[in-house]
Amino acid sequence: MKIELAPSILTADFSNLAAQIRLLEEGGADSLHLDIMDGHFVPNLTFGPPVVESLRKITKLPFDIHLMVQEPGSFLEDFAAAGGDALTVHAEACPHLHRLVKAIKKLGLKAGVALNPATPLHVLEFVLEEIDLVLLMTVNPGWGGQDFITHMYRKIGKLRRRISRARLPVDIQVDGGINRTTLKSVVAAGANSLVIGSALFKEKDLTGALRAYRNQAENALLESWWGKAGSGSRPSL
Ligand code: DX5
Ligand code: ZN
Repeated sequence: MKIELAPSILTADFSNLAAQIRLLEEGGADSLHLDIMDGHFVPNLTFGPPVVESLRKITKLPFDIHLMVQEPGSFLEDFAAAGGDALTVHAEACPHLHRLVKAIKKLGLKAGVALNPATPLHVLEFVLEEIDLVLLMTVNPGWGGQDFITHMYRKIGKLRRRISRARLPVDIQVDGGINRTTLKSVVAAGANSLVIGSALFKEKDLTGALRAYRNQAENALLESWWGKAGSGSRPSL
């Protein structure tokens, strides 16, 4: 299991985005998390494929595209063509979730499924073998800067146990309210892909802050492995 840091640019300074993305690259970001909102699935609007396409020209970082839209199936090809590397769709927006996952894989991209905080894990039961990533929303989607919902620790742990038992190469991404306080506990609970938005963009030194987040997350992962080894059970992956 590897820690992946995916800064969300939702609360970045959009008038200075290229410079901010360079700082994230220097700080060792693994990907950029791009939040697409349509004003229907969530009550907020962000941006679409043309913006993704222009960002594609200024960075080689993989684009992790989080589609908070109704009927995400209509946009898969556009976001793939704009330069997406992973597309994550919300289970709540997809009556034909399996079909969409297959369509994303057919485009040659990583496929993710996102769950809102109140959506139970069992909706993943028959797609888990097909996907690369589960995005667990740890706030209700729509805005950056909200407080982490603490019940989500239990959800992360439950999903990690399910994935470990089946030995699946599926990342658990957490999105919402990740900061220096919650980061350690989400990693201990079993998350390995961390979306960090407002907590990061509040920092004066973006590069230094991102490096500090990585150290903290990797230490938390090691500690949780040692803790488990010490208690006689094996690390989860
Ligand atoms: C919220 C978005 C998040 C958001 C997280 O709906 O999906 O990616 O940027 O922001 P923070 O880290 O501020 O909670
Ligand atoms: Zn997101």
